[in-house]
Amino acid sequence: MNHAAGGHAAIYPGSFDPMTRGHLDVIERAAKVFDRVLVAVVVNPQKRDPLFTLDEREAMIREAVAHVANIEVTHFRGLLADFVRSVEAGVIVKGLRVVSDFEGEMSTALMNRSLSGVDTVFLPSDPRWSFVSSTLVKEVYNLGADVAKYVPPAVLRVMQSKRPAPRSA
Ligand code: PNS
Repeated sequence: MNHAAGGHAAIYPGSFDPMTRGHLDVIERAAKVFDRVLVAVVVNPQKRDPLFTLDEREAMIREAVAHVANIEVTHFRGLLADFVRSVEAGVIVKGLRVVSDFEGEMSTALMNRSLSGVDTVFLPSDPRWSFVSSTLVKEVYNLGADVAKYVPPAVLRVMQSKRPAPRSA
């Protein structure tokens, strides 16, 4: 049932600092469309110093996706296009939450295709998660909110280990 990926892996790349329920939802849905989904954690996110180490980000994802057989978790450094070629991926998967995501994702997708020949497939975020981002989750958690609704339990546990438990909502 894997015509789109031609038998190759679909790559779902990201910073995952940390993974949210929105990420998890896109990964689970991608795993129904493609034979194999490779979740690829970027070693050094471009935007800022990550709050979570690479090992923590990978371990949290591994635990959150353990119930789905055709998902693997790995990491890459440098250009996504080079990584995609090195693993002979068939397609890159990205989630789109809101229209404003589209602008950046469109040029990124075209650049990645120009560099690697590999296309990007967009999955619409479930509306339940359209406002959820790793950045907002970290911000509201640090200001004392309960983020259990927005992150998988494995992520919540690691967040709590980094900071005392938040006040109840
Ligand atoms: O979760 P994010 O932060 O939106 O993920 C962004 C990510 C990791 C997919 C993107 O920054 C990326 O691909 N970085 C690798 C460097 C690269 O290839 N840059 C050129 C993109 S056209």
